[in-house]
Amino acid sequence: MDRVELLKQQAGIEACKYVTNGMKVGLGTGSTVKYTVIELGRRIAEEGLEIVGVPTSLATEKLATKVGITLVELSDCDNLDIVIDGADEFDSEFNLIKGGGAALLREKIVAQESLSMVVVADERKMVETLGAFPLPIEITPFSHQATIRQLTKLLDCRVNCRMAGDNPVVTDNGNYIADAHCGPKITDPVNLEIEILKIAGVVQVGLFNNMCDVVVLAKDSGVEIKNNPNGRIPN
Ligand code: A5P
Repeated sequence: MDRVELLKQQAGIEACKYVTNGMKVGLGTGSTVKYTVIELGRRIAEEGLEIVGVPTSLATEKLATKVGITLVELSDCDNLDIVIDGADEFDSEFNLIKGGGAALLREKIVAQESLSMVVVADERKMVETLGAFPLPIEITPFSHQATIRQLTKLLDCRVNCRMAGDNPVVTDNGNYIADAHCGPKITDPVNLEIEILKIAGVVQVGLFNNMCDVVVLAKDSGVEIKNNPNGRIPN
């Protein structure tokens, strides 16, 4: 396993310490949180951990089923205790860019239903100002080029429709993803989220503001727990 993969594994496994018996757990998407899902499956099998999970993507649903996590519908739950998910970037205010894996809409729906959010990341994801990672925006296929023009005007930067070969990437919800190359200058993500969501054709934006309580950050020197001072998980 290479260095980055090892860091992802360390963060993913360490985050499981926040999961205890009886919890309803949101299961994020991506190459870091996959290790969380695998570890939760191990604890269920080997330690008798009793939890139910809500997956944030079809890929996570498949993995969670494979490792033996009982899945439930979010609509049938009265809040989730916790969601554990990855991030593409996080800043010092614990605001996030997510959606590199095109799962941002379900991730955000699950996060907003969760009483706490733990992010698993390696140190490459920590930034001073959000935006070097292209900001993913889920948009409707209908008139998507027109929506992209609106986004380009608002953001004053290059906005691409994410492609898989010759065709747009299609999300689990049947939508497309626009990637906005803002550059590392998203100093006011809260306002930017509001402005982007005003555009008809935008389904959701991968800015997760004021949602993350803890970042489990894997570094070469070890795993660091970064607690959001304004978060919902006590130190
Ligand atoms: C999925 O759409 C994303 O929000 C992921 O959670 C994010 O891209 C982090 O993924 P990795 O852990 O694979 O970097």
